Amino acid sequence: MKRSARQSAYLEAMGITQWVSNETPAEESMESGSIELTEIVNTAVEETSTQLNEPDPIDRSPVELLDWESLKKRVAACTQCDLHKNRHQAVLGVGNLNADWLIIGEAPGEQEDIQGEPFVGRAGLLLNNMLKAMGLEREQVYIANVVKCRPPGNRDPHADEIAACHAYLQRQIDLIQPKILLVSGRVAAQSLLQTDASVGRLRGKIHHYPGTEIPLVVTYHPAYLLRKPTEKAKAWQDLKLALSALPV
Ligand code: URA
Ligand code: SF4
Repeated sequence: MKRSARQSAYLEAMGITQWVSNETPAEESMESGSIELTEIVNTAVEETSTQLNEPDPIDRSPVELLDWESLKKRVAACTQCDLHKNRHQAVLGVGNLNADWLIIGEAPGEQEDIQGEPFVGRAGLLLNNMLKAMGLEREQVYIANVVKCRPPGNRDPHADEIAACHAYLQRQIDLIQPKILLVSGRVAAQSLLQTDASVGRLRGKIHHYPGTEIPLVVTYHPAYLLRKPTEKAKAWQDLKLALSALPV
């Protein structure tokens, strides 16, 4: 019977290395002895790994089959695009898993990358106020981004990074089944609507999330509104439009 290095390490930690390796069964009894020994070793390995609190193994099923817990673990360990290289942590999303409203931004920024939650920096405070103005609390809605890891220096995420991350957002949409998507900023809007039109062109009308009946409204990104407060009036028009588009 061959023991893996991992098994040996566990056995050593349990203090039974000597007992196992000193056993030199006679040739004829090797086979049944080995089966028994394999069982003992496997049980020992299983028990020890539980005791050592090893991180749960990642569920490698297709993303569209994952539940919230497995999705979170999968994203936390994801290396599907280069953005994983510089992140402190992936930021899946936050909020009510049965929300009517799904707010979709671009990517985690510095604070989001540190805190593990989307829209917690200055743009997040403005987003909270925009939601309040609509009669919504942050906890009522679900907030996510088109990419889950912070792009270095807050650059725009690249098309290949957005594509690599899309299955996770799609799974979030399928699990939440929101009544409406409120999409914040050019990058998110262009990628979700598969267009290169500007936010100025895309805002002010009710779109639908491609392939579904879910209404989708585009508005300016809060970070943009912080730089250009005069555009807030237009953003408010968008939020009112979204309120009117919410199916009853
Ligand atoms: N900007 C975004 O688009 N998303 C965040 O989570 C934070 C800032
Ligand atoms: Fe994976 Fe998305 Fe992070 Fe890229 S951005 S590493 S696809 S979770």
